[in-house]
Amino acid sequence: MVRAFCQACHPDIVKNFEKSVHFGELECYECHGKHRTVSFKIYGGKILIEEKCSFCHENEGKDYKESIHFTSLRKGIRDAPTCIDCHSEHKILSPLSPESPVYPLQIPETCAKCHENTRITSLYGVPPRRFSTYKESYHGIFLYKGEVHAANCVSCHEYHKILPSDNPKSSIHPANLVETCSKCHKGRDWKLTGGKIHVEAKKEVSPGVYAVRIFYIFFIGFLAFMFLFHIILDLRRRKK
Ligand code: HEC
Ligand code: HEC
Ligand code: HEC
Ligand code: HEC
Ligand code: HEC
Ligand code: HEC
Ligand code: HEC
Repeated sequence: MVRAFCQACHPDIVKNFEKSVHFGELECYECHGKHRTVSFKIYGGKILIEEKCSFCHENEGKDYKESIHFTSLRKGIRDAPTCIDCHSEHKILSPLSPESPVYPLQIPETCAKCHENTRITSLYGVPPRRFSTYKESYHGIFLYKGEVHAANCVSCHEYHKILPSDNPKSSIHPANLVETCSKCHKGRDWKLTGGKIHVEAKKEVSPGVYAVRIFYIFFIGFLAFMFLFHIILDLRRRKK
């Protein structure tokens, strides 16, 4: 068997592959070629990986190719993800498997690899701190309490057809937000969608939140000080 041949020199990869959904469905050579073993790193590069996967996963490939991620990759931005950045190289698992990087509880960290990485967010000018702001949001709090039905990144952003908010086709375009939230919150008056989901307590981004936070920092400091002052006065009085 071909796999047994590869195993002699690539034991860890074969072990990972044998745990994946593809085990029994396809062989190493279906992605790497039969004779001249293809390394995507050398021949053609990252842009070709998607073609390998889309050959069998046509619909997923079609959606992915409409996304900002593929558009960027085509422009030569190698930091943009292709299939294996989200699904892993060989240990590809079903989204229902808790070990999978695309299992609901894992998805935020899968996106965080890049969207919490300040080198990437500043280089391409994308809004930063998406993971930490999500974690502090009501959905993040619910999710990490174990509520897997709470919205994760892809509930709002789609999982393959991810687009920026200024694109009218995007699930987070202001005109489409009511529909996006209503997937789970049926029949509610979504004035809330006018508010920010990723709230950064920074002056430039959310002046209201910033003001409240600053007020509380001073207020609580003042309160603690007065409390101490009160105790000191009280002690002095008792001494007399
Ligand atoms: C005799 C040992 C040996 C066997 C058998 C073998 N390989 Fe390799 N393979 C290597 C070595 C050594 C490298 C280069 C070092 C590296 O990058 O890990 C390599 C590199 C590769 C690469 C490219 C890695 C890169 O970083 O660019 C791929 C893909 C690959 N092998 C796939 C296979 C497949 C598929 C099989 C089975 C059909 C196989 N190999 C069988 C030793 C082997
Ligand atoms: C579904 C497609 C697919 C299958 C099947 C597959 N691979 Fe890969 N393999 C990839 C991709 C994609 C990469 C990443 C290349 C890159 O990073 O540029 C890769 C990378 C590799 C590398 C380089 C590893 C590294 O970390 O640099 C080796 C070696 C390799 N594969 C061996 C195998 C072996 C052995 C099998 C069979 C057990 C196998 N592959 C099955 C898609 C596949
Ligand atoms: C030769 C065809 C083929 C190729 C190439 C292929 N797959 Fe698959 N894939 C399958 C089959 C068959 C299944 C299992 C049937 C199923 O559950 O849909 C599967 C299952 C999956 C699943 C789990 C789907 C689910 O709902 O459980 C994911 C995720 C996946 N593949 C991703 C990839 C990625 C990423 C690549 C490229 C690195 C790739 N596949 C390449 C045939 C392929
Ligand atoms: C930005 C991350 C990301 C990229 C890039 C990505 N996927 Fe996915 N994919 C996901 C997530 C997240 C899910 C799970 C969605 C869910 O069901 O909750 C998923 C689900 C899947 C499934 C399961 C079936 C389904 O539709 O639910 C398949 C198959 C799949 N992806 C294949 C691919 C292929 C092929 C590519 C490349 C053309 C790709 N993915 C690129 C994140 C990604
Ligand atoms: C491998 C790194 C990587 C991963 C993983 C990744 N992204 Fe991205 N993403 C990027 C890069 C780089 C850009 C910027 C592309 C550009 O501006 O050209 C981007 C752009 C975006 C944008 C558009 C931002 C804007 O203002 O233009 C959204 C939304 C997005 N990603 C969401 C997600 C979600 C959700 C996930 C997880 C399912 C994810 N990304 C996973 C690298 C990544
Ligand atoms: C409840 C829905 C929801 C969830 C969950 C969510 N987002 Fe967002 N995201 C939005 C909305 C709406 C916007 C646009 C307005 C804003 O910035 O609040 C946005 C903006 C973004 C942007 C900037 C895109 C642009 O064009 O402005 C990125 C990148 C992003 N989110 C990534 C993520 C990542 C990564 C996660 C998970 C860790 C996540 N989001 C979770 C709804 C969500
Ligand atoms: C994948 C499903 C899903 C999506 C999509 C979703 N939510 Fe939620 N949301 C939940 C769940 C589950 C909870 C947990 C509490 C509950 O059951 O109400 C929650 C809680 C909330 C809460 C706090 C509790 C409450 O009911 O008032 C608000 C506010 C909220 N979501 C707003 C939004 C907005 C705005 C959007 C769209 C940008 C959105 N949600 C998209 C599933 C979702």
